[in-house]
Amino acid sequence: MKGGGALVIVGLQWGDEGKGKVSYLLSRRASYVVRYQGGANAGHTVVVGQRRMKFHMLPAGSAAGAAPCIAAGCVIDVRRVLEELELLKQLGYGDRLYISHAANVVLEEHKALDAHMEEARGSPIGTTRQGIGPAYADRALRAGIRVEDLTDSKLLDSKLRLITKLHGCERLTSSEELAQTAGSLAKYVADIPVLLNDAIRNGEHIVLEGAQGTLLDIDHGTYPYVTSSNTVAGAACASCGLSPRFIESVVGVAKAYATRVGSGPFPTEELGGEGQLLREAGGEYGTTTGRPRRVGWLDLPLLRYACMLNGVEWIALTKLDVLASVEKIKVCVAYVVDDGEISIASPHVLARGSVKPVYEEFSSWNKLSTEEARHIAAKGWDELPTTMREYVESIEKMLGIPIRLASIGEETGLEVWR
Ligand code: IMP
Repeated sequence: MKGGGALVIVGLQWGDEGKGKVSYLLSRRASYVVRYQGGANAGHTVVVGQRRMKFHMLPAGSAAGAAPCIAAGCVIDVRRVLEELELLKQLGYGDRLYISHAANVVLEEHKALDAHMEEARGSPIGTTRQGIGPAYADRALRAGIRVEDLTDSKLLDSKLRLITKLHGCERLTSSEELAQTAGSLAKYVADIPVLLNDAIRNGEHIVLEGAQGTLLDIDHGTYPYVTSSNTVAGAACASCGLSPRFIESVVGVAKAYATRVGSGPFPTEELGGEGQLLREAGGEYGTTTGRPRRVGWLDLPLLRYACMLNGVEWIALTKLDVLASVEKIKVCVAYVVDDGEISIASPHVLARGSVKPVYEEFSSWNKLSTEEARHIAAKGWDELPTTMREYVESIEKMLGIPIRLASIGEETGLEVWR
């Protein structure tokens, strides 16, 4: 059979766009779903009926039955991987996981260093304190512990000694204990590039699931207020060992408004009562840390830039239901900067100085009950409240990219396809 390929799912904002649900929906017909960057800083939620599942390490699409993979570009929290594997077993998917031998392992030392660095900075980043930055730093220093090292306690011991020496930090990990807990991962270690390339050659479909979002990309985001990996779609190929020739589509996930956790520029932030209404209606509290998220309006200049960086083919627009909590919806359509107005903006523009958002206003719609949302999802696009349809169609027009999926509730099934 011919015609296999990979589809990349990428967040277009500052994370928490609802990639978990979208990955679940798009992984239903995939053989494999792969996490390609980040670690347990991510929190992808999937709600199926009464069941709410949270994934920090495993790709959320694995809840739909695609075989889970963790690629080389990830940093691994071993305990979380084992916990989430148990969740998949409870769902009836058996004991199935493919994990790259080259993925790096996050240690307690990395978490302590993460906290220490946050305290040492004049202006903290507001990290998730999951040890992500220090783990990626050790990888770049070629001092990192890789999954392939986990069964060799002597090697682990010498690597742990190097890490504590390099950072002058306290040793918190026992090599024997690490080898024991992590040893249970040994049977899942796989050659991910061979696995995925073979699958594609056999005509199978693969989903590559990103974490965080484009504006948190270490190179293209609002540096230094970013995560420590490349989150953009292009990073998926390097992490998975897949040629860009095999990417058949890039799907961008954007929330119908904007949120951000941690510090850094956020031009459309809504600090007043409407922000609070959206936060409550949208449950905008961190999946990993429980922190209240900063909330604001959809930002088209940044979204246009994110779509360009990722080569987005179509967009899944999520959490439209949440906007029913406000009467008037604002959308930032351009920025006023020193030398005029711009309609597309690199996050770099934000670091340079202040920008003034130019807003357009839209009318909201009445809150939908779950029953109403189910009815609409069953009937399709034309059944959406008129003002909601106008909102989505206007954004689509202003972006020039199709919005093929509109999510109108957290639960899978509460979405409309076009
Ligand atoms: P780190 O990835 O824990 O180092 O955090 C760096 C920045 O990325 C902080 O602003 C975090 O709040 C943010 N961040 C990391 N992971 C996520 C996520 O999954 N969703 C939203 N923000 C995130």
